[in-house]
Amino acid sequence: MQNGPVTPTLHTMTDVWEAYGKELEGVEDHIRKNLDSSVTLVNTVAAYILSSGGKRIRPLLLLLSARLCGDTSSDPQSLGSLVEFIHTATLLHDDVVDDADLRRGRQTARKVWSNQISILVGDYLYSHAMRQIVTFKNQAVNETLAEACSRMAEGEVLQLYHHGSIAMTEADYIRIVEHKTASLIATSCRIGAIIGRASEERQAALFRFGEYIGIAFQMADDTLDYTANGAQLGKTLGQDLREGKITIPLLHLLQQCPEPDRQMIKDRLETRTLSETDLQRIIALMQDYGSIAYAMDRARAYVAAATRSLALFDDSPAKRALVIVADYMVNRDR
Ligand code: IPE
Ligand code: IPE
Ligand code: MG
Ligand code: MG
Repeated sequence: MQNGPVTPTLHTMTDVWEAYGKELEGVEDHIRKNLDSSVTLVNTVAAYILSSGGKRIRPLLLLLSARLCGDTSSDPQSLGSLVEFIHTATLLHDDVVDDADLRRGRQTARKVWSNQISILVGDYLYSHAMRQIVTFKNQAVNETLAEACSRMAEGEVLQLYHHGSIAMTEADYIRIVEHKTASLIATSCRIGAIIGRASEERQAALFRFGEYIGIAFQMADDTLDYTANGAQLGKTLGQDLREGKITIPLLHLLQQCPEPDRQMIKDRLETRTLSETDLQRIIALMQDYGSIAYAMDRARAYVAAATRSLALFDDSPAKRALVIVADYMVNRDR
């Protein structure tokens, strides 16, 4: 069974969730099993966010990459759960950095407990995951994951450095996104390839696939911050602008809109104030000047590049699933 479960032809993301549902349940079992701190509050806070309905995209990608490369063991499920711990740690930290009140439709951990608790439990999840991962004694896995962790932190710092500055360029934005988001997604794919004992060429192809879909994923996330249904998204709309964060749709709008509108946006970015009327006005401008369409076109171009980097793999259920996941990056509502 080279590519995981025997599957009917996969067409949609629902087909993928269904076909790999059993394996993803295995990931959930590992998540629960690995939450074993002797400090009860650590488990309580970690369980609060871990059980709040994340999409589990990174474990899924790790699993699919491993199956694509012929791995049939349960290691991808265990490693996937640990990558999800690291992702969760970044969210706990990110919500402090971003002053966020909502995550996955619930109050953020920092609102329920405190910023301090959120940071410290994030630290615990990071280090606990690394501690478990080294027990696999796979140096290539350790190296790629350690690199992703430092790149994610660099990305968040780089982003803060550019906060509120309309001098930021699209190249600056892409660099931030490659670091803060694409690195862990790319690494999830590479880990799958490593444990599937793929050649360096195939590992690199899957890493590149992950990098491209990771960039597309963040571009879509940044567009959803303006266009989503807030309840579905589970986060507060307009939060990026409110905190001075310039993302791809806003970058485009700043280049295209007339000076008075540019000044209005600049003022909101500087003062970090954004009324509901301001937000609606900016969304309308984004529609008028094609900023939403531009951002999503850019995201789709990255998905297409990602799909091309899978060319050296033969067709298989795992490959079809990866292509569907790549499309889902830009066709999702949460
Ligand atoms: C949120 O990641 C942070 C970004 C990189 C945009 P996800 O959208 O994967 O978050 P969950 O885990 O599904 O909530
Ligand atoms: C992604 O950035 C956060 C990480 C990669 C850690 P965002 O700040 O855009 O993510 P959300 O919107 O809070 O989920
Ligand atoms: Mg955030
Ligand atoms: Mg966001």
